[in-house]
Amino acid sequence: MSPTHTNATARLRCISCGATPGSTAQDFRCTSCGDLLEFVFPGRTFDPAALKSLWLSRRTSLNKLDQSGVWRFRELLPPISEEHAITLREGNTPLYQLPRCARLTGLDHLHAKHQGMNPTASFKDTGMTFAASSAHQQGFRWVACASTGNTSASMAAYAARGNMHSLVLIPEGKISWGKLSQSLDYGALTCQLRTDFDGCVLILNELVRQKPVYLLNSVNPYRIEGQKTAAIELLEQLGWEPPDHIIVPGGNLGNSSAIGKALLEMQELKLIARLPKLSIIQAEGANPFYRSVREFGGAKIEPMTADTMATAIRIGNPASWKKALRVLQATGGEVEQVTELEIAEAKAEIGADGIGCEPASAVTLAGLKKLRQRGFVKPGESVVLILTGHLLKDPDFTIKFHRGDLFSGTPYEIDSARARPLQRAPVVLDADLGAVIAALEASERKNS
Ligand code: F0G
Repeated sequence: MSPTHTNATARLRCISCGATPGSTAQDFRCTSCGDLLEFVFPGRTFDPAALKSLWLSRRTSLNKLDQSGVWRFRELLPPISEEHAITLREGNTPLYQLPRCARLTGLDHLHAKHQGMNPTASFKDTGMTFAASSAHQQGFRWVACASTGNTSASMAAYAARGNMHSLVLIPEGKISWGKLSQSLDYGALTCQLRTDFDGCVLILNELVRQKPVYLLNSVNPYRIEGQKTAAIELLEQLGWEPPDHIIVPGGNLGNSSAIGKALLEMQELKLIARLPKLSIIQAEGANPFYRSVREFGGAKIEPMTADTMATAIRIGNPASWKKALRVLQATGGEVEQVTELEIAEAKAEIGADGIGCEPASAVTLAGLKKLRQRGFVKPGESVVLILTGHLLKDPDFTIKFHRGDLFSGTPYEIDSARARPLQRAPVVLDADLGAVIAALEASERKNS
């Protein structure tokens, strides 16, 4: 059988009522019941070995699509013609061992797939390349998103590359400078609204009904399709041997939905023989999905006013919760919640492995510790953490943590003393060789 794709069969379907619309409404909601849409690929078959070797052969290609870690896997995506493809050579992110964190959690092997190594330094680029290209193909002049910072940075970059205008709605004061500076530099019209992320979403949903603006939040099913490729690339990096567990942060829940969708599709296409368990971790102050699963068995979700210093996941009403629930159940994964202090500690621990990530990504390690304590993750099992954003996205958080003032004036102030061994504050000295040598020797004594 030829590995060439049979994507002409890609079709949109409502996740609740099963309606299959020929085209999408501006808000990407089902016109019959209002729920989310997803792509399905009826009748799709491949020769798994031929497909794997085709993907591998593209690693040496000079073609722009083959050089992208998203478009390289285009056989598993809906069709978009090459002339509309906007790519920054996203994906192609490294899979690292985390030896210190493995020891800390009592595991033989712990890996991190670092999605912060994408062109705009977060996982959003994998979905954005695909969805922005879809906007381009449909002839939109304007694209827009509500964001906690990373989606907006990514969208602004891809819009600029595709000669489209972009409109960003972000909560005032609650996104990191690094992310804000990106959308400014990439030329977006950046509106800081006096509300939170969920408030920005409400305004945006109204806006797209009134203006010819293409919505690039993760309710857009093209975003989810692009983000699937992180899991495909991960499995390729593992020689198609599935890990026992994959652990992701949960905010608006698009990423977990995408990774889970990819796992299920890969199993169906016989690219992998078994499913990893996909577990989702939320911050305690932004935990609507955790509560939905634990308190209501996933029967409903109660929106909340979210608050966490991991601002990327400061989301109280996650759009993709039903999709995430489905993949959680299908893979047998778990949900966990972690405190602000646990997030900060985990971030410094990942940093000490020479990797680093932004606070929202560190919930994965903090969650893993809890899943180990509960016995859900066992010592001999293999685990992959999905690190979603780069350390330099939020240097304020990092500096405050190491200086010891991250938790000043918060309920964690007293408990945060336990994080001192992880803090590495800068040492301010006179410009004097003797002082530097003394500092070196003091550090040597401390470490020996
Ligand atoms: N990690 C980072 C670094 C993020 O930026 C986000 C979401 C998540 C995790 C959660 O992913 O929403 O798919 O569950 N950031 C959004 C944004 C929503 O606007 O940048 P999710």
